[in-house]
Amino acid sequence: MKSIRLGDVAPDFTAKSTEGEINFHDWLGDSWGVLFSHPADYTPVCTTELGTVAKYKSEFEKRNVKVVALSVDGLESHQGWVKDINETQNTTVNFPIIADEDRKVSVLYDMIHPNADSQHTVRSVFVIAPDKTVKLMITYPASTGRNFDELLRVIDSLQLTMYQKVATPANWVSGEDCVIVPAVTNEEIPELFPKGYTELKPYLRMTPQPDAN
Ligand code: BEZ
Repeated sequence: MKSIRLGDVAPDFTAKSTEGEINFHDWLGDSWGVLFSHPADYTPVCTTELGTVAKYKSEFEKRNVKVVALSVDGLESHQGWVKDINETQNTTVNFPIIADEDRKVSVLYDMIHPNADSQHTVRSVFVIAPDKTVKLMITYPASTGRNFDELLRVIDSLQLTMYQKVATPANWVSGEDCVIVPAVTNEEIPELFPKGYTELKPYLRMTPQPDAN
């Protein structure tokens, strides 16, 4: 198995899910994608995570992102558990959950880390761009539920920096000042960043977020 790195094409697969069979690349279409694994159905942290993602549906849609979850449990287990998620998290699960009983997708995406747990997937997150390349990978342990606000924050940064010659500083959230990438010369700045800029050091130049009001 070849490990996945940023910039690689996200491996394609066909798998059973709670919303029918998914061919991953076809299913993604022109959207951004989030593929995230959880260790097991009917577990407390996972229950809160999937409920949270269901509640964030409109935030993902706003960003043209399709979300799909995965665990190595089967379809029947997923379907029963979804009822519990809906009941306890006061939501309706509105995205597919892949049933990866044969661990095909988990292995393809290196989601099983045997020294942490030989049987179950860890909490992996992959963000995939419309060209199907992997833009972000984060791995959390089973004991720690993910911060989905952070995931949205990174997606905002990825989508901004794909089109503008900026990068985003520590703890940036959409609307805050950005860093002008080093490849941009000071002479190019007035045209690229008409809102102006502040030069703290020649390599550290800040500008208001170009596409914000
Ligand atoms: C959980 O989702 O609650 C969980 C899953 C595996 C190990 C520990 C916690």
